[in-house]
Amino acid sequence: MTTQPKSLTILPDDLDRERLPRHVAVIMDGNGRWAKNRHLPRIMGHQRGVDSLKDLLRCCKDWGIQALTAYAFSTENWGRPVPEVEFLMTLFERVLRRELAEMVAEGVQIHFVGDLACLPASLQEEINRAMAATAHNQKIQFVVATNYGGRREIIQACRSLAQRVQTGELQPEDIDERQFEHHLYTVGLPDLDLLIRTSGEMRVSNFLLWQVAYAEIYVTDTLWPDFDRNAFHEALRNFQHRQRRFGRL
Ligand code: FPP
Repeated sequence: MTTQPKSLTILPDDLDRERLPRHVAVIMDGNGRWAKNRHLPRIMGHQRGVDSLKDLLRCCKDWGIQALTAYAFSTENWGRPVPEVEFLMTLFERVLRRELAEMVAEGVQIHFVGDLACLPASLQEEINRAMAATAHNQKIQFVVATNYGGRREIIQACRSLAQRVQTGELQPEDIDERQFEHHLYTVGLPDLDLLIRTSGEMRVSNFLLWQVAYAEIYVTDTLWPDFDRNAFHEALRNFQHRQRRFGRL
């Protein structure tokens, strides 16, 4: 992460620091369409998408947001053409290797969540290295959902609770929302406040199904590679105009 001009690192005047989301998640959609609009191969869209993600992470860190979760690869994405899947796996690995030193220096704590055991072994090694190297960083938590599915996350939480009941560690009546959340990938992160989806689709696409319960959802037509600091600023402005009622009046 390179140094930004001071004016860009400061929270814009029209945003209230006290009412920023603590945890933002992004569905980074529209890479393929961005590339197609420019008569480029789809993979160029993913490549440019990495730059948008880097910028957003830096912006969240600069503006004081505690956690950013990005949907990089869903359990359904294996259904894409093999060359695209292979490109994405190699891209994740290459970006991790290239960015690790800067993430360490900038205080980013990176986590990967999802069914990581199915990823290529060399990517798993890079993931483990990055998580270990940044484990004590405290500026921002950056969560990358890879081979992630919200239903699968909920099922694995149910399984681990059932195992604890089976061993007698836990009684069924002890299972409440707090207990359940302890078995989700997002344990230890602030509650999700804002979910952003780019490229206009009004879907949650199996992302953070439990965590989205009281999040504000913001959908923009902007394609992910075009999602920049101004677009994020607009999303935050929109968020700060919402009345969050959490089911109350
Ligand atoms: C969806 O757009 C995008 C993806 C499935 C990949 C997102 C991944 C990145 C931006 C790279 C992130 C990198 C790291 C290291 C975390 P799409 O292909 O579905 O676009 P379309 O709907 O226009 O076809």
